Amino acid sequence: MSERIAVIEGDGIGQEVIPAAIDVLESLDLDFEFVEGEAGDAVKEATGEALPQSTYDLAADADATLFGAAGETAADVILPLRDAVDSFVNIRPAKAYPGVDAVRPETDLVFLRENTEGVYSGHEDDLSDDLSTLTRVVTTSASEKLAHFACDYVEDSDDHDDFSVVHKANVMRKTDGRFRDAVVGVAEEQGVDTDEVLMDAFATHVCLDPEQFDVIVCPNLAGDVLSDLAAGLVGGLGLLPSANIGDDNALFEPVHGTAPDIAGQGIANPTATILSAALMLDHLGYTEEADRVETAVESVLAEGPRTGDLGGDADTDEVTAAIVDRL
Ligand code: NAI
Ligand code: MG
Repeated sequence: MSERIAVIEGDGIGQEVIPAAIDVLESLDLDFEFVEGEAGDAVKEATGEALPQSTYDLAADADATLFGAAGETAADVILPLRDAVDSFVNIRPAKAYPGVDAVRPETDLVFLRENTEGVYSGHEDDLSDDLSTLTRVVTTSASEKLAHFACDYVEDSDDHDDFSVVHKANVMRKTDGRFRDAVVGVAEEQGVDTDEVLMDAFATHVCLDPEQFDVIVCPNLAGDVLSDLAAGLVGGLGLLPSANIGDDNALFEPVHGTAPDIAGQGIANPTATILSAALMLDHLGYTEEADRVETAVESVLAEGPRTGDLGGDADTDEVTAAIVDRL
């Protein structure tokens, strides 16, 4: 069956790492049609809109979307794009691969981040010259939806059988309290074991002993921050993929941004985006191909070539070619 994949490079290194992932996907010789859409700072400058309606529609109608990153306009692009694919959970695996000089080589985590509400997509207002406010929305329904996904995720997986709920319900009693009660309630109903960790304490514990954690279910902003922290444990942002999953659609993107400090030089690490493409393959049912891509990435991480962020001196194209070679 043919799959229609929306491809949105965006700005900065998005324009370098997305073509790398497409090279890998094309080398698999699947019946994929790639359709390009524009979004980000450059489009905003040219047209006044960071996310043209045509790109929104492209993502909404595609079988899956692969997105790079947007710069200053990131919030105007990624929040509506996650909405276009109706995504309620952002899956962010953070795994230390052999051969990578990781701060914590034993790290193997999966963050399941609530993707529609909370502080991150809160409603902000300027009320006066001196005062801005943010309204944080937390619903039982969105929290339960995430919890059902998390329960199915650990039940379907050979590697996981329980999850940690990370929150700050001791202080944000109503919002995080609602989140916690909803998630733990669903897990109890489905017979899945959970433990609870306050999010500030989690930040310390995961640095000192990441092995005690496995799958982490958390509110939106906590997932954003704590997964970047986990990136620091496993060797950097160049390694972390993510999947935004909706009921009928999904969008895959690296966790990192446009990396303006290295953009345009052809030296970005394509691993995060290629692993995001592997998550996309898995989601679309191409599980064998997804495994092959992950194995090829693992082999290149172990043996090189490596990009500068991992201590090597290879460029994006060399790393991509090495991955394609091993497929
Ligand atoms: P960033 O992730 O772009 O970069 C942080 C650091 O990690 C930089 O030193 C960068 O060189 C390095 N890095 C990131 N990805 C890399 C890769 N693939 N290979 C090698 N090194 C890599 O985050 P930063 O600097 O906070 O944001 C830069 C821009 O990106 C901002 O305009 C921000 O708004 C945007 N951004 C967009 C996101 C999105 O579209 N989803 C997500 C995060 C940031
Ligand atoms: Mg982030």
